[in-house]
Amino acid sequence: MLEDTSFAIHPGQNQAMENGSYRDVGTVKSIQKRDGGLTFICDEADIHLQFYRSDIVRVVMNQRDIPDLESTPAVVAALESVNVGIEETDSRVLLTTNRLVVSVSKQPFRLSVLTPDGQVIVSEGDRGIGFKENGEVICYKKMEPEDRFYGFGEKSGFLDKRGETYTMWNTDVYAPHNPETDPLYQSIPYFMALRNGRAYGIYFDNPSKTTFDMKTEQEVYSFKGDSGKLDYYVFAGEGPKDVIEQYTHITGRMPLPPKWAIGYHQSRYSYESEEEVRALANTFKEKGIPLDVIYLDIHYMDEYRVFTFDKDRFPNPKKLVQDLREEGIRVVPIVDPGVKKDPEYPAYQEGVRNDHFCKYLEGDIYFGDVWPGTSAFPDFTDERTQEWWGNWHQFYTELGIEGIWNDMNEPAVFNETKTMDTSVIHKNDGDPKTHRQLHNLYGLLMGKATYEGMERNLNGKRPFLLTRAGFAGVQRYASVWTGDNRSFWEHLQMSLPMCMNLGLSGVAFTGPDVGGFAHDTNGELLTRWTQVGAFTPYFRNHSAIGTLYQEPWQFGEEYEAIMKRYIELRYEWLPQLYSLFHEAHTKGLPIMRPLMLEYPRDAKTYAIHDQFMIGDNTLIAPIMQPEVTDRAVYFPEGEWIDYFSGKVYEGGTTHLVHAELDTLPLFIKRGTLIAQSPIRTKTEQKELELHVYAHTKGSYNTSVYDDDGETTNYYSGEAMKLNLSIQCKDHQIAISYRNDNEMEWPLPYKKCSFILHGLVDDQQVWVNGERQSGVWTEQGLKVEVTI
Ligand code: GLC
Repeated sequence: MLEDTSFAIHPGQNQAMENGSYRDVGTVKSIQKRDGGLTFICDEADIHLQFYRSDIVRVVMNQRDIPDLESTPAVVAALESVNVGIEETDSRVLLTTNRLVVSVSKQPFRLSVLTPDGQVIVSEGDRGIGFKENGEVICYKKMEPEDRFYGFGEKSGFLDKRGETYTMWNTDVYAPHNPETDPLYQSIPYFMALRNGRAYGIYFDNPSKTTFDMKTEQEVYSFKGDSGKLDYYVFAGEGPKDVIEQYTHITGRMPLPPKWAIGYHQSRYSYESEEEVRALANTFKEKGIPLDVIYLDIHYMDEYRVFTFDKDRFPNPKKLVQDLREEGIRVVPIVDPGVKKDPEYPAYQEGVRNDHFCKYLEGDIYFGDVWPGTSAFPDFTDERTQEWWGNWHQFYTELGIEGIWNDMNEPAVFNETKTMDTSVIHKNDGDPKTHRQLHNLYGLLMGKATYEGMERNLNGKRPFLLTRAGFAGVQRYASVWTGDNRSFWEHLQMSLPMCMNLGLSGVAFTGPDVGGFAHDTNGELLTRWTQVGAFTPYFRNHSAIGTLYQEPWQFGEEYEAIMKRYIELRYEWLPQLYSLFHEAHTKGLPIMRPLMLEYPRDAKTYAIHDQFMIGDNTLIAPIMQPEVTDRAVYFPEGEWIDYFSGKVYEGGTTHLVHAELDTLPLFIKRGTLIAQSPIRTKTEQKELELHVYAHTKGSYNTSVYDDDGETTNYYSGEAMKLNLSIQCKDHQIAISYRNDNEMEWPLPYKKCSFILHGLVDDQQVWVNGERQSGVWTEQGLKVEVTI
């Protein structure tokens, strides 16, 4: 391709990139009230302001047009009625809610957002909102020297994105993911900025190609869209967790996954036959390595036709799915959007007859080359087509399948541009637009069609969906893996900030291909990666055709034993992880967190990309280099206990930590609690252990959540929500708990106990107001309770 040659630095390139000059919206001429907000009629364009909540303001500008207030399908929040005080002078309009102040200066239109006590959150200088002759819409904002930037969805590189530019244009990138490889598969035009511990966020609701630039200028950043309108939301914070809550209020939160989807998954491109899949399942069983899911990659299909099985390789898929289900293993097949052009193939026939495929304006179906050869692509922008596609999934649910893997849904096409012709027209529920205008929605809407179709067909069971491409709001339907990485140590390193930034962008259920997809892995890399994978929200080992097989036993017994131990650990930690999934479901918060999310006032955490937290009290500092057994670990304030050795580390500073290949540096904050199950196999657990890491001061509140893990009964409150608090003093630890579930759910635990680690000699233990003597075990004092 030309851009891969020296043509990329052709002297004429700069001119081509210039794209015309910026035109400001100009001076405010009049102001009108409409649609629950205010429209500012300016010299060159009109700008509309709306309050979605008292802490969320939306700004809309349509170039030379009355602002169209239609949102993309990413937005699910309804406009609330917010009390807004309006004050107007000759030069300025002040709009005040109880959480923020929007100040608009009129000559020219410039917008600032402030806290009620006058601290500036967002402001504009010489330039504000404008557009260019070529149809671009653009917005400039001031950048302070201390501003840090996070989010932007799935991006390579480090955690803090200051000094970078990012483009949002869903792209299938098989070439190695480098720090400069941009864009990738997902587009989430959203970021969070942190300034001295205070955070705000901006979501740019535009599905065409958008670009965020925090690099070109020192004191200003910008975001722009190639087409469409400037339509953005400001989230006023104040902490980074508040911003995520605000952003996911607008774009939605994840449903609770079925529990089996948060276990260990094994995949390969491809396990090519029924025998191979059965042998794989048997090996896991023989070796006693827990496994919840086996994936079927493209070889299961009849010449890559979706909704078919190859009759020679998979003669009896129903029996296969049933037999594996009896062993507690689910089968998840891949489903790509390309439908093979074949007049004798029912999905294609139906799609053509009922007008479900993307077409050119002139009426011809758009065809592109993907795995099945020439293929047509469903137009997911039309609800009618979403339903049609969703209904086809009965093909899988009738076989007993409960999870689907969506791939190539950028959409990827094997051509120079890597995607669909941008002049293709999408029906868009009666408001036709070109693919150029809607490109980034394709994966999200395929996910919606698939998830909703599966949900309809599963009669009250929760579906699981994995997707490669997506847009803001993708968390409502799917878990996201980070595409075709490679078996490089650098890719293990890069997966941490990538997943953390996805988490800060509302996508909590995420993880990379453990072991690396392309290239050959090795025992040490796979072992270190599996240790990390045991704590990433999504945990799947996947590898490419032609590479070494990389199941946990492929590199010898020493490595196998360590990987087995960490996969088991994943299962022991499930009650804790599931409670965090519940937090993602209710508040939008990520499970895998950068340290800055928990310690936004500690500047040392702002750029830490090689450590992460699970929830608010677990710190992980993996080893991500070959033959390294020592690393520096930064501990935030407090005291931290090594999960394996019990050694205590003083926080607020950096320590050197030793970790042989069998050890993942994993630390729990003193004075807190984690929920575990001692059962090391499968996601069905019968015993709950609440591990308290004793301290002599401080208090901690948390909750442990559980439900049947399988059905949608939790929608109506059938769950356990154990609210816990711990008060630590010199001579006493007082724990209290209460099950606050809204509706009776028969608890499956035969036993529940508190285990107190690191009690000081004369510390008494009280639970719900009663003194406990407990029983001493190797781990600490064990106190059995009923809940
Ligand atoms: C794409 C996917 C990869 C999959 C392969 C074959 O490269 O990213 O995960 O295995 O296609 O379907």
